[in-house]
Amino acid sequence: MAPPVHSEITLTVNGEEHTLLVDHRTTLLDALRERLDLTGTKKGCDQGQCGACTVLLDGRRAVSCLQLAVAAEGRTVTTVEGLADGDRLHPVQQAFLDLDGFQCGYCTPGQICSAVAVIEEHAAGWPSAVTADVRPEAGPPELTAEEIRERMSGNLCRCGAHVQIVRSVARAAGAEEAAV
Ligand code: FES
Ligand code: FES
Repeated sequence: MAPPVHSEITLTVNGEEHTLLVDHRTTLLDALRERLDLTGTKKGCDQGQCGACTVLLDGRRAVSCLQLAVAAEGRTVTTVEGLADGDRLHPVQQAFLDLDGFQCGYCTPGQICSAVAVIEEHAAGWPSAVTADVRPEAGPPELTAEEIRERMSGNLCRCGAHVQIVRSVARAAGAEEAAV
């Protein structure tokens, strides 16, 4: 007997549960955009290289074009639509708005989701590839522009808004002095 190619899954997205019948090959990105109408998450390359589709999976960033929807069952998904608190923007969203951290805006939802996780990763003391001293006793590295660029390097911006993106991340992290 041929194995089933569809399954009913329940996705928890931005605090709401959704039950969907999906083809097993459906990516999380397509499930979000095509089935749940959450079109804030963008499809750029569809092969894990641009970061436009970045969402938070259990609070950690993930490129949703490389995640199968069935593999996201039981996990918590947060998209750019789920970051604001009612009418109050998330501090990262507000910083992007205040500092022109975008031009066309296509990469922006992915940039913002990544930045939210970057700030949390940094606050938790995670080193990056450019952190000079990775000994635990050294404490969290200063969130310099170099650190932000490295930590955000999975998110490309075809408009070239990277300078303002770095400033926006620094502002949201309260690290503007170190990053300019
Ligand atoms: S669309 Fe997923 S990384 Fe480019
Ligand atoms: S703002 Fe246009 S691609 Fe980044």
